[in-house]
Amino acid sequence: MNAAAPHPAPDGHASEAVSVAAERRWAIIVMAIIALLVLMMVVTGLHWASMPPSRVETVDVKTLHTRGEFVESNLGTTMAPDGKVTVRLVAQQYSFVPQCIVVPADMPVTFRGTATDAIHGFVVGRTNANTMLIPGFVATFTTTFHRTGEQLMPCHEYCGTGHEAMWGRVQVLPAEDFLSRARTGERLSCVQG
Ligand code: CUA
Repeated sequence: MNAAAPHPAPDGHASEAVSVAAERRWAIIVMAIIALLVLMMVVTGLHWASMPPSRVETVDVKTLHTRGEFVESNLGTTMAPDGKVTVRLVAQQYSFVPQCIVVPADMPVTFRGTATDAIHGFVVGRTNANTMLIPGFVATFTTTFHRTGEQLMPCHEYCGTGHEAMWGRVQVLPAEDFLSRARTGERLSCVQG
């Protein structure tokens, strides 16, 4: 309503009707966009709440040492016939098994790890190989190391009085050296003795 305007245009009522219609149109469009955004938030919120964002794989802590993937003889580095390199490790207070891990440079390496007693974690040197290890869950990620040589692998989740002294080592071998060792099909590690 523009009745108080000092000099209304001759067709003031007509142009007002047009602008009111345009405003209403835009109001409906904006409300539809807001409704759509709210709907997206609700749907994704419920979706992610009912389904965690990453794949969750569980493992029974009680039988970890006696059967299945994480028995001691299956830990370390393996190369599948198709060339996929997998490292399996277990963290416990206060060490990693194996203590020394061999990996090839410039090849994708998949880590699969879990913990037996408390929440542990590890990071390999300054690489992006970094994960938490939680009892009952299998942590897994794939990464590629580019620098050869030995890296320290400390536990980075406070896990008790021995946390400070809990660390392993990772030896990154040139791919050809690794492949010549891996062809035997055995579990590789660089633990001495
Ligand atoms: Cu294990 Cu800190």
